[in-house]
Amino acid sequence: MDAPSVEDRPIWDLWLSQYHLPVVLAADKLGLFEFLRDQPATVEEICQHLKLLRRSAEALTAALASTGFLVQHDARYQLTPLSRTYLLPESEFYWVPMLGAAGFGHLTTEVLLKNLGTENLGEEDRVTRRWEHGEMSAADAAASNQRMHSHSFPSALGLARAYDFPQTRRLLDVAGGSGGYAIALALQHPHLRCTVADLPPVANDARNYIDKYGCQARVDTLSFNMFDDEWPSGYDAILMTNILHDWDPRRRADLVTSSFRALPPGGHLFIHEILLNDAQDGPVPAAMFSTMMLGTRGKQLSFVELQTLLTEKGFVKVQVKPTYGYYSLVIGTKEL
Ligand SMILES: C[S@@+](CC[C@H](N)C(=O)[O-])C[C@H]1O[C@@H](n2cnc3c(N)ncnc32)[C@H](O)[C@@H]1O
Repeated sequence: MDAPSVEDRPIWDLWLSQYHLPVVLAADKLGLFEFLRDQPATVEEICQHLKLLRRSAEALTAALASTGFLVQHDARYQLTPLSRTYLLPESEFYWVPMLGAAGFGHLTTEVLLKNLGTENLGEEDRVTRRWEHGEMSAADAAASNQRMHSHSFPSALGLARAYDFPQTRRLLDVAGGSGGYAIALALQHPHLRCTVADLPPVANDARNYIDKYGCQARVDTLSFNMFDDEWPSGYDAILMTNILHDWDPRRRADLVTSSFRALPPGGHLFIHEILLNDAQDGPVPAAMFSTMMLGTRGKQLSFVELQTLLTEKGFVKVQVKPTYGYYSLVIGTKEL
């Protein structure tokens, strides 16, 4: 009997892909990245310091080196720029709060099947119901901001570098979470003043991030429920980052309509998202991220979908610009 004419490598890759995240999270919990922060180490030294079995240290270091998180020189392992930037707890860009979040970091087939079976529009829905009704404790808000900050701050800084916001002076960051976007934009662009608008406990917690980056003079906060409350006027731009992807078509339309009403003529709506392609069959990161959004009511959107939505609600000259990593900026203008 012949071997199958289609090789099974992609199946092996798929099967083994389930180890990628747990390997990094286990190394984080063991303190491996912190141990290697100041000096490279042999496998023997790693075993002694972390009290690991030899074969365990070998398996872990090989897996981490093969995926770009460690590099070996002269039989010693050391951090790479990637792990130094994103996996050291003291880094501004430490991603583990999001990588390790239950339900995201540890997606199981059971959870995926549950998510595939619902639009999350009913009372039983956990995440979006709570958001819609603004039901969030201070502790939940702080945890959410910590996760979102680790997830969003690099792309916020990337957006700030990629786009100058030439016609904007006052920007309202709707559902701005930790304030990472408002902070990044204010730091890069002295002509901008930004407001982080979010549910009350989230907006309160965002002040800690604004203080940390010394942006109090140009970034403030507003406690508001974007579905129930009047949207404030006085802003010439509205930013929504990683927001439309959480919601169903009706709520997406509400958010774009509210933006249009709140903006003055000539104002801009900025949407920062990882976009699906227009055929809706890739690229892989956008498609996988969209699968994660089954846990909310939303999906990742394509440029054409956003262009159609924005145009229907009155925006003109809808454009798209790639910005940083997998992200793109979609811009709509309210005509003068
Ligand atoms: C996926 S996070 C995005 C946060 C931020 N824009 C970012 O990109 O990091 C969703 C945000 O929407 C906020 N949110 C959810 N429902 C809201 C509501 N009804 N009114 C205001 N903000 C809301 C959440 O508190 C959270 O900060």
